[in-house]
Amino acid sequence: MRGRVVVVGSANLDLVTVTPTLPVPGETVLATSYRELPGGKGSNQATAAARMGADVSFVGRRGADAAGNILTDALTVEGIDVTHFAVADGPTGRALVMVDDAAENSIIVVQGTNALVTPEAVDEAAALIADARVVVCQLEVPVATVLAAARTTTGTFVLNPAPAQHLPEELLAAVSVLVVNETEYETVLGSPIPDDLSEIADVAGRPGMPETVVATLGSRGAAVCHQGTVTVVAPPTVEVVDTTGAGDTFVGALAAELAAGLDLAQAARHAVTAASLSTRSLGATQGMPRRDEVVDVAPPSSESVTSRPRGNHQVGTPTEA
Ligand code: RIB
Repeated sequence: MRGRVVVVGSANLDLVTVTPTLPVPGETVLATSYRELPGGKGSNQATAAARMGADVSFVGRRGADAAGNILTDALTVEGIDVTHFAVADGPTGRALVMVDDAAENSIIVVQGTNALVTPEAVDEAAALIADARVVVCQLEVPVATVLAAARTTTGTFVLNPAPAQHLPEELLAAVSVLVVNETEYETVLGSPIPDDLSEIADVAGRPGMPETVVATLGSRGAAVCHQGTVTVVAPPTVEVVDTTGAGDTFVGALAAELAAGLDLAQAARHAVTAASLSTRSLGATQGMPRRDEVVDVAPPSSESVTSRPRGNHQVGTPTEA
């Protein structure tokens, strides 16, 4: 049975340039292409979850402007419930996304009405959030709002702390599944991702940590740490055009699969595949795959790199989530 995914977060209009190389300070470069595309980490994660077949609701704020209409239409086309994607007093969020020919990117976010996704917005959607099987948040909206969403959640609470910032202890402890890239791992967990990935279990096993920590590793896939076991999931090989939104695809796909009742190991394998496939097209959401494309890809390999008991946790595999 499909469970509902509720995403509380940001929506931006992405102003996407492609240049041979990213400009360095003081340099001007000519773009070879320019597009305006739906984006924002919250909206992207909602879109990824919907493409994977989940019933999705999006809680956010947009301006009374053309960009807001574009974003509402883009979510609606995906079948996402936008009842709580309300108009607020200000301009819709924007992101300046620079992509180069080597698929590297730099992004600047202009928060706009995303700053107005307040705890009151969570209160207005409280019944929906409390009923959801999976609730997803990121940090392009105020932390107080994310904390309010965590307190309202009765199902699985997935946090992608992007852009990275230090988190209040109460929030970290309320997280069921923390999904972090290398930068976010260091900022939130206080040390770089270890070369020996089994050592993630030492960090994730500290008191007050989320039940599950997932480190996304770019072209190396993801390391999933649950109950003292770290499992590394390798990605399929694809031709990369643009990695913008790959992390969002991972988070949305993971949420969708957990809401559908898959175990953590299988959900993570599908999320790694979905994120890889998403990088084949320009733009955050353009390349996000549908579920049948994901399951058609040969399952990525996974390898458990530790099984030591830690603290009070039982030794186990991610399939026990
Ligand atoms: O994660 C990618 C997203 O980050 C872009 O769509 C941009 O809007 C920023 O929020």
